[in-house]
Amino acid sequence: MNGAQAAIALVIVTGIACLLGVLAVIPIGGADMPVVVSLLNSYSGIAAAMAGFVINNSLLIAAGALVGASGLILTNLMCKAMNRSLLNVLVGGFGATASSAGGGGKSEYKNVKTAAPEEAAMILEDATSVIFVPGYGMAVAQAQHVVKELGKEMEKRGAVVRYAIHPVAGRMPGHMNVLLAEADVPYEQLWEMERINSEFKNTDVAVIIGANDVVNPAAIDDPQSPIAGMPILMSHEARTVLMVKRSLSPGYAGIKNPLFERDNTLMCFGDGKAFLEEVLKELKSA
Ligand code: TAP
Repeated sequence: MNGAQAAIALVIVTGIACLLGVLAVIPIGGADMPVVVSLLNSYSGIAAAMAGFVINNSLLIAAGALVGASGLILTNLMCKAMNRSLLNVLVGGFGATASSAGGGGKSEYKNVKTAAPEEAAMILEDATSVIFVPGYGMAVAQAQHVVKELGKEMEKRGAVVRYAIHPVAGRMPGHMNVLLAEADVPYEQLWEMERINSEFKNTDVAVIIGANDVVNPAAIDDPQSPIAGMPILMSHEARTVLMVKRSLSPGYAGIKNPLFERDNTLMCFGDGKAFLEEVLKELKSA
């Protein structure tokens, strides 16, 4: 094979690889994306290891095998977190029909109650237990420091404060742990999903900051939902839910969240950081 033929072969193989990549990812539902991200990461390691064999480079083989193996371990952990088998994630979208979940448009919500920062502060003033539920929006708003300050203020007032961590909250594994650690939230206050879920029903207030899919009760109530079967944080069981986000927009999975219109939910519209700063100010001056 001469140089020109090799270049043409390379272009063709690259084209086929791109097509395969797109076709492999198209059927995968939005909320299953964490599994796919870690699987693709693992594939990149395996590809590097294979390239190492081709060019006879043992360092590339070893590094590629390391990335490939750790990616597979992470994929397995993600599958467990989403309560899915890998096969179900990869081919589950084929032949899927329209679900009853809706696309989460504003018009789909009929009974939404709202609270301004002053009202949210009044509710927190009387709370003896609070669970903060961080999600992707907390990362966008960079609200982790004010969340921690609010937690400290609540503790000063005698409340029990905890933080509920969902394994796929945010956009990368451990996203919430990293942000809260950066804000110096004590490690023992971070509770994993399995441990915290039974605590919500005995909790006065769940403060949800920019989380959406990971608290969507459709996952347990609606078998037709694209996220059906995905374990969620049971924040809807708290006596009052304060849901801090900017609008009624859906989360990553792009579906309606019935939590917005539950009787015990108050939507707190605003940027996560700005809203909680107002709440903290009100609480300190109360
Ligand atoms: P999401 O369901 O994506 O919801 C994030 C919410 O944050 C949005 O509904 C958005 O609503 C709100 N938001 C955005 N900017 C904000 C701001 N400045 N202030 C306040 N709120 C803001 O987040 P989640 O509950 O953390 O769930 C994660 C999702 O990502 C899951 O579906 C998961 O499968 C997927 N995913 C996870 C990973 C990993 S490894 N963690 C990787 C890929 C995908 P508004 O626009 O109304 O504010």
